[in-house]
Amino acid sequence: MSILILGGAGYIGSHTVRQLVLAGEETVVADNLITGHKQAISSGAKFYEGDIRDTVFLDEIFTKEKIDTVVHFAASSLVSESVSNPLKYYDNNLGGAISLVKAMAKHDIHSIVFSSTAATYGEPERIPILESDRTEPTNPYGETKLAMEKLFKWADKAYGMRYVSLRYFNAAGADESGDIGEDHNPESHLIPLILQVPNGKRKSISIFGTDYPTKDGTCIRDYIHVTDLADAHLKAVKYLRDGGASDIFNLGTGNGFSVRETIDIARQVTGREIAAIDEARRAGDPAVLVASGAKAKEILGWTPQRAALSEIIESAWKWHSTHPNGYEDE
Ligand code: UFG
Repeated sequence: MSILILGGAGYIGSHTVRQLVLAGEETVVADNLITGHKQAISSGAKFYEGDIRDTVFLDEIFTKEKIDTVVHFAASSLVSESVSNPLKYYDNNLGGAISLVKAMAKHDIHSIVFSSTAATYGEPERIPILESDRTEPTNPYGETKLAMEKLFKWADKAYGMRYVSLRYFNAAGADESGDIGEDHNPESHLIPLILQVPNGKRKSISIFGTDYPTKDGTCIRDYIHVTDLADAHLKAVKYLRDGGASDIFNLGTGNGFSVRETIDIARQVTGREIAAIDEARRAGDPAVLVASGAKAKEILGWTPQRAALSEIIESAWKWHSTHPNGYEDE
């Protein structure tokens, strides 16, 4: 049986495809290539180009391929864009999930692993964040991901479609080969933006907010290596194949780093100066987001293997220093 990876040409999707292919799984990728990159898809995977909101497209894949599990990454994921264009997020993210659940029900496919996010929590009620904590998203991106989780919950009750929802904290880093990595346009994430400075693509990194109630006044995040995220998907697929019940898991290391600390570690890793400029807060950023990874460890048997932030940034630097323009350099 094959695993279908929706959004397998994107950042986290392509790293998961690579691990699945290395593990010897029959892997089928579907991606509309709007934000994904065809070069990011491992050569061992079969590729279909198209959009998951297109029911004819999904029908074709489910008819041609023998799929037992779907891993669903295909979604829009820019917080600020979601605030200015919420309809795009309801359409792509929730609309995409509705189309997918319809197709899965029609073709009798009963297992799905799904990309969720720390943005489902909104402003956390405590640190570290537990899966059972309050979910009150502060932007349409988090709101649509939470709505997708709820859709899958009801699809399980109605159609026996078991799901694992993985709430990622801050995905970062790149595959150890240096062949695939992060390539967003526009880029909005801290670590790739920091590394644009030693790459000569920007003069300095902006620090968004220095008056947060944290040790150095800057926001604290839980950075998790993309290969560890990929491994969690493989474990989630196994869990569902073994008959595991629908569930939700945080994926983080449990360690928080401030923006200033992150820049400092990038200076050590790259051996470059990296100028930083203090700026005003960015709207909607919670002060601290750190996961409790206890549940994923206990139930999925998942623990991050590359938890040191220096190791995460080193792997990102290996990719960005050799691909300053991302996949355009291939
Ligand atoms: N930051 C800067 N300067 C920059 C870019 C970011 O100081 O140039 C700061 C942000 O203010 C934030 C931290 O660096 O405090 C991390 O920012 P990112 O944009 O890299 O990541 P976020 O924590 O905002 O976003 C992540 C995920 C989203 C998810 C969100 C949940 O990437 O998908 O967590 O809040 F929705």
